[in-house]
Amino acid sequence: MRLRGRKGIREDIERQKELVVLNAKDYKGKWAELFGNDNPIHAELGMGKGRFISEMSRKYPHINFIGVDMYDELIRKASEKARAAHGLEEGEDGDNLIEISNLRLMLFNIEKIEEAFAPGELERVYLNFSDPWPKKKHARRRLTHPGFVEKYQQILNEKGEIHFKTDSVSLFEFSLNSFADMGLRMRNISLNLHSDGFHPDHVMTEYETKFAGQGMPIHRVEVMIGEEALAAHVANLAKPEPEEE
Ligand SMILES: C[S@@+](CC[C@H](N)C(=O)[O-])C[C@H]1O[C@@H](n2cnc3c(N)ncnc32)[C@H](O)[C@@H]1O
Repeated sequence: MRLRGRKGIREDIERQKELVVLNAKDYKGKWAELFGNDNPIHAELGMGKGRFISEMSRKYPHINFIGVDMYDELIRKASEKARAAHGLEEGEDGDNLIEISNLRLMLFNIEKIEEAFAPGELERVYLNFSDPWPKKKHARRRLTHPGFVEKYQQILNEKGEIHFKTDSVSLFEFSLNSFADMGLRMRNISLNLHSDGFHPDHVMTEYETKFAGQGMPIHRVEVMIGEEALAAHVANLAKPEPEEE
């Protein structure tokens, strides 16, 4: 029978050594070793219940994914989502021991993210529906504040990008200003993602499902951090537009 309560949840995630990383600092500079390959690593910072990262890891087996959150309960919920997304049944006696080769769930506070990843270790950071922290005095806590973005710049590689989506107009506005003030180039800015030629491959998060279901517009932007990411974008812009039929 599964244990309940805080202690039970901690014990539950501690048992899932193949999937859950509780000592992220030990892997700084060694994530490729942990995954056993040199595939790109994409991290969702603030994954919540893990729908997005579970689905992405299922869809893209040649990318390694790391879902980061700071609450035990969310790591446990995400482990259940991951198991379901990958078609793995829960074993008898609530046995959660599973390995999904391209996914890890990491219990960690994003405020210290540079202590978990070496410079250039990540290729993409996803920020999905980050807490908006609407009061001005809390602006530094927003995950798109320059203080955080500087940390992402450190840990992203030459192809590095940040992909950010939110329902919050004020957070989106703040974030665009934050990226622009830092001299960063942005692309594919959308104020209503679900009506702007919504891509069928798009993977939704829990919050996105809820807000989009209420008819709220979803805002999204991609920010190029690495020089190669920027060069690829510029080369793409130089290509002639396809002729209309
Ligand atoms: C609003 S929820 C969004 C969850 C998910 N990305 C989604 O779109 O459904 C924000 C998540 O970020 C996590 N979070 C916020 N600040 C964090 C921090 N400093 N370190 C780790 N996780 C954090 C919260 O615990 C929460 O699960």
